[in-house]
Amino acid sequence: MQEFDVAIVGAGAAGLFCASVAGQLGLRVVLIDHSARVAEKIRISGGGRSNFTNTQVSAANYLGQNPRFAKSALARYTPRDFVELVRKHGIGFHEKHKGQLFCDQSAQQLIDMLLAECTAGGVTHWQPCALHSVRFSASSPFGKSASCYEIDSERGTLRCAALVVATGGLSIPKIGASNWGYRIARQFDLPVVPTRPALVPLTFDAAAWAPFAELSGLSLPVEIATGGKKDTMRFQEDLLFTHRGLSGPAVLQISSYWQSGTPIRLNLAPSNVVAEQLLQAKAEGNRRKIANVLAALVPSRLADTWVARGPQYGHEWNRPVNEASDKSLQALGEQLARWELTPTGTEGYAKAEVTAGGVDTAALSSQSMESRQSGLYFIGEVVDITGWLGGYNFQWAWSSAFACAQALAASLR
Ligand code: FDA
Repeated sequence: MQEFDVAIVGAGAAGLFCASVAGQLGLRVVLIDHSARVAEKIRISGGGRSNFTNTQVSAANYLGQNPRFAKSALARYTPRDFVELVRKHGIGFHEKHKGQLFCDQSAQQLIDMLLAECTAGGVTHWQPCALHSVRFSASSPFGKSASCYEIDSERGTLRCAALVVATGGLSIPKIGASNWGYRIARQFDLPVVPTRPALVPLTFDAAAWAPFAELSGLSLPVEIATGGKKDTMRFQEDLLFTHRGLSGPAVLQISSYWQSGTPIRLNLAPSNVVAEQLLQAKAEGNRRKIANVLAALVPSRLADTWVARGPQYGHEWNRPVNEASDKSLQALGEQLARWELTPTGTEGYAKAEVTAGGVDTAALSSQSMESRQSGLYFIGEVVDITGWLGGYNFQWAWSSAFACAQALAASLR
């Protein structure tokens, strides 16, 4: 039977980084993944350029039962620390939008960087390697450690003093996502917060959506908010119309906070007071059709579709501005500024960037990521900590991995 100080399951962002740091701190580390390729999510992230962190990170950018749990790890390994590592490897990067840092060339450079760091730490890779079962033994052959895990895999059985679960969430099953991490948590009686797709496009009833489906592909800046009166979340980002509903950064952000059965609210012209501008056009005797005047304030395709929705005003929205009633112009402006609609669902894990929910932080130490099951650690997305869109999820992967690796070295060396 082979022996290691630490077995890390999941060679994604968190697993690779944790393995490299723990290895460089002198631990014997094996990194196991059932997929043939490492870090597929890094490879496809940020359109192939990976939005690997954000310059402005705080616990306020995360959700979960207790987002403050993330505070300690985020403070001990910051975006600046990761940027330093990226610089050390000569990888060019740039800031795109709201503090989001992307590689200049390719996400593959980050994967190569993490693999090089693993090599520097003497990490053993078992990949592809399916795992069968995990057993805990209270009698440990490992000097300083009280725990011992035996893991049966297709490469045989290994023994280790600590087991780190870095298997990520359920999104994009076709590139290796599995529920293994949640199953291990349950095996050791650790609570798991129910999971759901997050950072995901929202869908609508097909008949109700039909008038907007023709806008598919249209993108515009909006303000978006959750519909509830209490604890409203609000973002200013771009919205994208799709055949089945809404997507784009605005909708991905709000989807993480959206609760089934509740509405979302959109202001489709956040930098204009549309009603006022239409009334002013009328006062100036403007004879152009409402849609044409509106097209100066929102994209013309949206203006056309929107005025076609106005039968309740006897098709007044099809008239020239100077012939429309003040009431109908006001109604048009207000409806654009306060469009309230209730999604029927989401595009699910197949399209979600992340999984909300996961291993309950109440059962984990925010200092070390160790669970109340001795020697069993959880890092990255498998934990009930979900970041906003914008590099926050990778930063959580790096920070939680670093905290875990430091704690492993302190307890096992
Ligand atoms: P991650 O999913 O990276 O790794 C988990 C690993 O565990 C995988 O290699 C998997 O094969 C392995 N595994 C799973 N089950 C296993 C089992 N049973 N046995 C063995 N191995 C197993 N975030 C961000 O901050 N910026 C961005 O630009 C993007 N972009 C983005 C785009 C897309 C399309 C997606 C789907 C996601 C993003 N994200 C993102 C989110 C980000 O990719 C994600 O939060 C991190 O990869 C999570 O890192 P982890 O290491 O926790 O899991």
